[in-house]
Amino acid sequence: MALESLEEIAAYIVEDGKGILAADESNPTCGKRFDSIGVESTEDNRRDYREMLFRSEGMKGNIGGVILFDETLRQKAEDGTPLVNIITAQGALPGIKVDKGLKPLDVSPEETVTQGLDGLNERCSEYEKIGAKFAKWRAVINIGLGIPTEDCINQNMEALAKYAKIVQENKMVPIVEPEVLMDGTHSIDQCLEVTSKTLNALFNYLEEHGVNIKGTLLKPSMVISGKDAMEKAGVAEVAEKTLKCLIANVPSDLPGITFLSGGQSDIDATAHLDAMNKIGGFDWKLSFSYGRALQQPALKTWLGKKENAEAAQAALSHRALMNKKAAQGKWDQSLEK
Ligand code: 13P
Repeated sequence: MALESLEEIAAYIVEDGKGILAADESNPTCGKRFDSIGVESTEDNRRDYREMLFRSEGMKGNIGGVILFDETLRQKAEDGTPLVNIITAQGALPGIKVDKGLKPLDVSPEETVTQGLDGLNERCSEYEKIGAKFAKWRAVINIGLGIPTEDCINQNMEALAKYAKIVQENKMVPIVEPEVLMDGTHSIDQCLEVTSKTLNALFNYLEEHGVNIKGTLLKPSMVISGKDAMEKAGVAEVAEKTLKCLIANVPSDLPGITFLSGGQSDIDATAHLDAMNKIGGFDWKLSFSYGRALQQPALKTWLGKKENAEAAQAALSHRALMNKKAAQGKWDQSLEK
């Protein structure tokens, strides 16, 4: 894979319906996932789980990139092969989460701003040498009474733009991830309004900071009803409103949009993506960068046991293929049987 330019790297990741496996859970988040299956979150268990995922047959042709946490980028498989080499052998590019998590916003302490710009240039330079081809930074926007504030949106979106510039200077593709959380009772229209404001601010800051849009990927949340909303929008409405929001706010020369799943069920995440690609009418590739929606069935099958590895790999392979089909607008519920 002689991918020389940012544009080539970005295009490769989302080529032909391929998407991204987000496996960059920090150790505390991985601990929460492992708690749900009664497995202790040790360095070896995290390695075994991820090695199992990355060796799945269905990685090939369906997954163009894998986002890793610092520990995993440096880890070796049980037989001594660096996990990064297993990923590249599957035809996927390794990427790295570079943000340092959330801290309360001074002016509005119930909101957060993402940390990690200090020392980012040095960290990126090292990551690129280890083999990372792209990076990720997640900003979090909460919907609630009187929030998000303008300060929250502006500080987070400007940090994303500064991050993206530094990543590109280190020859990696930045994934910019503004996540509008599903938590809350808000309607899909409130989500539409907040997501539009957020994306509008993001692309203004990206331009202001001189970020090369053709060498960038966007990882947004979908426009969707709050988790505890009285009325939940169906698949057609989510697809229609998400596309409306993206078309109004995202430049057409961005190569790809890879959604996060954000707590949607695995089937919902696939159905929504498929519905958008069936509607069409946009220039970017519209694909996935799912964490939970790709991993959940595999995690529940694995349960920390070697003898379950093959079945768990089949579960991941199936979701990877289903989401590739959705990114091509060729998924159908009957394929899930
Ligand atoms: P989910 O798809 O589980 O939301 O994870 C994606 C991700 O990378 C969150 O930052």
